[in-house]
Amino acid sequence: MARLFNRNFIVGVTGSIAAYKAAELVRSLIRDGANVRVIMTEGAREFITPLTLQALSGHEVHTDLLDTEAEAAMGHIELARWADALLIAPATADSIARLVQGRADDLLGACALATPAPIFVSPAMNQEMWAKQATQDNVQTLIARGIAILGPSSGSQACGDVGAGRLLEPDDIVSAIAEQLSTGALAGRHVVITAGPTREPICPVRYISNRSSGKMGYALAEACINSGAKTTLISGPVSCEPPAGTTVIEVETTQQMFAASMAASATADIFIGAAAVVDFKPATVSDRKIKRSGVKTMNLSLVPNPDIVASVAGSESRPRLVVGFAAETHDVQAYARKKLASKSLDFIFANDVSDQSIGFNSEKNAGVLIGRNSEITMPMSSKRVLAESIIRELSNVLG
Ligand code: C5P
Repeated sequence: MARLFNRNFIVGVTGSIAAYKAAELVRSLIRDGANVRVIMTEGAREFITPLTLQALSGHEVHTDLLDTEAEAAMGHIELARWADALLIAPATADSIARLVQGRADDLLGACALATPAPIFVSPAMNQEMWAKQATQDNVQTLIARGIAILGPSSGSQACGDVGAGRLLEPDDIVSAIAEQLSTGALAGRHVVITAGPTREPICPVRYISNRSSGKMGYALAEACINSGAKTTLISGPVSCEPPAGTTVIEVETTQQMFAASMAASATADIFIGAAAVVDFKPATVSDRKIKRSGVKTMNLSLVPNPDIVASVAGSESRPRLVVGFAAETHDVQAYARKKLASKSLDFIFANDVSDQSIGFNSEKNAGVLIGRNSEITMPMSSKRVLAESIIRELSNVLG
C-alpha cells in the first residue's frame, strides 16, 4: 500500500553502526510511495557509503553544507522546503543533543532548523548512553517541541550489551510515520473543497478563465483524506491527480460549481473555497464560433456569477466551518479581513500572488490563516505541508 504516496522525505543518517539499516529504510519508504533524498553526516559516511544510498534513493546524497556545487544544485534551504517530512534515522545521542541545541554547523542540523515539515527521530545507541539522564532530558525536550521519537527497541546490541537502544526495524519506522501522518483528526467528518479555475464559454471554442492550477485545492483534499475525512472535491478543469478515496465532481462553469457546492455542502462539516472562480460570465453565449472577419471591435457584455463561498456561508445548512482563500497582489491582509467579514467566513487564507515563487501554478505557497479572532502565519513551504497545517488548524477548531 502506498501510504506515503508522493510525499517528500529527507532521511538524515548519522554515525551509528545501525547506519547500514538506512539502506533498507530508504527502500521501505520508496516502496510506500515516498520520494527520498538522503543527508549523511560525516560520521554516517564512516559506516556506509553515499553510493549505496544514492543508488537506492535515485538521487545524489547530500553531505556538505558549504559545498558550492551541491548548494547550486539544491541548496539546503530549498531542500528543507522541499521536504514534507524529515526523518533522522539512525539518530545518535550526539545528533539528538545537537538537535536540542539547534546547531546548524552541518547540513542535517541546518535542514532540521530550516524545514517547516514535521520531524521524526529514530534513536540508535548503546543502552547506557540511551539511559543517561542527559539523553533522556534531550529526548523530552524534542518531544515537548513536537518532534516524534520512534523507538528505540530493546534487545542485543552490536556492542554486546543488551537493553534499549536498538534502531526500530525499518518497516516499523515507516508504519509509525504513515500512521502519524494520517492523523485521523477528521474521522467521521465531511469536507467539501472547490479547486481549480472555472470557465465561462463565449462561444463553442472560446472561454474566459484564469491561471489557477488547482494544486492548493488538491493538496487540501489529500490532507483531508489523510486525516480520515470523507472528502468531496468540486474541481474545475485541471491536470492534477485527485488523491485516492476522494469523491470528485468535475465542473466547468461557475454556475455548475455553485450548484455542486450548494448540494454537497448540505452534509459538510467544513467547506473550503480554494477555487479561483470566474466572477463574471458573458451575458449571452454564441452557439456558433464567432468569426473574426469584418469585426472592428468586439464587446463582451458580462453579468456577475454567484459568489459560491458566500452563498454556502449564508445557506440554511451552513457547514460549521466555511473557509475562503484570498489571493491578492497588495494590501493582502486588509483585503482578506474585509472578505472574511463580507462573505461571513470563519477563516480566510491570505496569500500574496504578486510574489512569483508562491501562489498560482507554483509548487509552494505561504500566507496567513486569518480567523475572526486569530491569525496564524504559515511560512513558505510545499502546498502539501501548508495544506496539512491548514487542515490541522481547522480540525483543532472543530474539536
Ligand atoms: O472575492 P474573491 O474572489 O477574492 O474571494 C476569494 C474567495 O471567494 C475564494 O475562497 C474563492 O473560492 C471564493 N469565491 C467564490 N465564488 C466567487 C468568487 C470567489 O466562492 N464567485
